[in-house]
Formats: sequence, structure tokens, C-alpha cells
Amino acid sequence: MKVLGIETSCDETGVAVYDTENGLLSHTLYSQVKLHAEYGGVVPELASRDHIQKLTPLIHEVTENAGLTLADLDGIAYTRGPGLMGALLVGSALGRSLALSLGVPAIGVHHMEGHLLAPMLENPAPEFPFVALLVSGGHTQLMSVTGIGKYELLGQSLDDAVGEAFDKTAHLLGLGYPGGPALAKLAEQGDVSRFHFPRPMTDRQGLDFSFSGLKTFAMNTLKSHAEEENIEAHIAAAFQQAVVDTLIIKCRRAMDETGFNNLVVAGGVGANQALREKLRSEMQNRDIEVFFPQPAFCTDNGAMIAYAGALRLQAGQHDDEDFSGKPRWPMAELSPVTVL
Ligand code: KG4
Ligand code: ZN
Repeated sequence: MKVLGIETSCDETGVAVYDTENGLLSHTLYSQVKLHAEYGGVVPELASRDHIQKLTPLIHEVTENAGLTLADLDGIAYTRGPGLMGALLVGSALGRSLALSLGVPAIGVHHMEGHLLAPMLENPAPEFPFVALLVSGGHTQLMSVTGIGKYELLGQSLDDAVGEAFDKTAHLLGLGYPGGPALAKLAEQGDVSRFHFPRPMTDRQGLDFSFSGLKTFAMNTLKSHAEEENIEAHIAAAFQQAVVDTLIIKCRRAMDETGFNNLVVAGGVGANQALREKLRSEMQNRDIEVFFPQPAFCTDNGAMIAYAGALRLQAGQHDDEDFSGKPRWPMAELSPVTVL
């Protein structure tokens, strides 16, 4: 089954074709970063308009690169939520209309399920059950995953998502949007031992997170050491280290609590090299295997939507007349997939 995947939940237009027999056939991505850069963040109306302009040419490009025509597609998957309403509606309107015109089923995919399943596009792919650490711009969650659509929330951020904390801290260090990759780069030039940032909520039980205090800690450190040479880089290094350590401590706890041997990390912050390296070496010592998507599939992309949609369509799920977007959509509402 050849499934077109469309991702337009935020500021990337991602399109891909996934074939349930032959794997990922092609994928392409257009990032709106330059469009929003001068505003310091995503402007929803500009995002929607740009998705409208880019989506159709990208669909043609991706099907051609896969050696297909639209008529070869067996299904369409698009991101139904969570995300920006206008941006979601672009993907849903085009995806559904295309499915109707081709006479194939369509399905609205949960963006975070897309992220969560993205490591399964890699070889080797993780096997169920696993713990998933989802770290994106809007979400920080630890989930117990026992099958597709079988997700139990173990813990989550009570305030800022970890990507959001990266972006806000980067902003106060004078870095552009999106801040995560820029902060990570700057951290390489800093002395990680110059400052010690707290590891929030690690001194109490449970698997919830809180990251908003780190940004305040960064701001106060910057204010009190404003004259110090290379101060921004030192803060970036200390901030990143604190985030990575905190995530690792909670992952360890989640592995102990569930008794699972596989850990999956996904979402934009999963592209962070410091996190990837430290988590791998920590878990290796405990005989736990860690799975990441390749960095390009950590951040938003069409491949993860094509893949998650293909698994559900293949199992006979589709929701053909529903054009709506779902800006808020708890993952617990997702139905499990029974493999046919
Ligand atoms: O998953 P994603 O592309 O979009 C959402 O679903 O939110 O995640 C974007 C987030 C942003 O906050 C961005 O700054 C962060 O992921 N990010 C990173 C890195 N690459 C992206 N944070 C830290 N280090 C990175 N290398
Ligand atoms: Zn995302």
C-alpha cells in the first residue's frame, strides 16, 4: 500500500510516500524558518499561507521522485493535530480532497504519534514494548508503548516543553529562532563546568518535568555575569547539560518502573547531539537499547506522517468525511491498531 503523508502542523511543509511493502520511497521538506525569522517565532497566518503555496508542488515532486503518479497512491495521511489550526486545515483540506478525487481512503494522523513511531523507519527498528521520550517544541512526555495506539502517559512537563525551554533560553542569549540548534552550537564553545544549573524535579519521585525555571536561572546568571567573556556560551553549555541530565535521570526511572529494555527518543530535541551521545552511553551501561530517528526525522517531517498513517490505513482505519483539524488532541484518545 502506497501512502502519501502530509505534515503542515507548524512551520515545515513535509511530504513523503511510504510503501508498506518497500518502505519509504521518497520524502521532501520545505522549512519556513526564513519566513518567520524576522518575527522571532512562528506567525500562524503566514505559516498557513505558505503551506498553501508549497504543498501542491511538493506533492508532485515527491510522487515523481518515488517514480509514481497520483493515481498510484492507495491512501492519504495528513496531520490532523495537534498544531496551529490554520496550518492543519491546509493539510487536511488538500489531503482529503485529493483522497476523494482519487477514490482512496484518507486518515488524520496525530502529530505526536508520527514522532513516536519515526524511530521505526530506521534499521534496526525498536520492538514493542518500549518507553518513548517525546521531546519537541510543544511536548515533553514519557510514554509506555505496548503497541501502535497503545500509549500510557508516564510523565510530562508541568510547564514549558523542553524544546520551548531551548527556544526561550536561546532568545535571551540573543540567538535567533528556532533557538534549539543555535543554542546547541553555541554550547560547544562554552565551559560546561563554569556554572551549575539545577536538575529540576529530580529530587522528588515521579516522572513529571518542569523546565521553565531553567530559563529564569539562565536569565539571572546572564544578568549577574553580564561582563564576563564568553558568558553566553558558558550559559548555553550549562543549560544544555542540565536539560540532558534531567532527561536521562527521568528516562532511567521510567526504564526501572516499566522493566522494559528499549528506549525510543523522538521529536525535535532528539536531534540534539549531546542528548544522543550521553543517553546512548548511559543506557549502554544498563543493557538498554536506545533508538533515535535519523536527525532529519526527529524534527517535523512528512515521512513520519506517511508511516503512521500507512499503519492505520493498512489496519482498515480511515475517517473519510472529517475535514477538521484538532489543535488540541490528547494521545490517550487514539485507538489501538490491530494488525490485520
Ligand atoms: O518536533 P519539532 O520539529 O516540532 C514540534 O513538534 O514542536 O521540534 C521543534 C523543537 C524546537 O523547539 C527546536 O528548537 C528543537 O525542537 N530542536 C532542538 C534541536 N533541533 C531542534 N533542540 C535542541 N537541540 C537541537 N539540535
Ligand atoms: Zn513536531
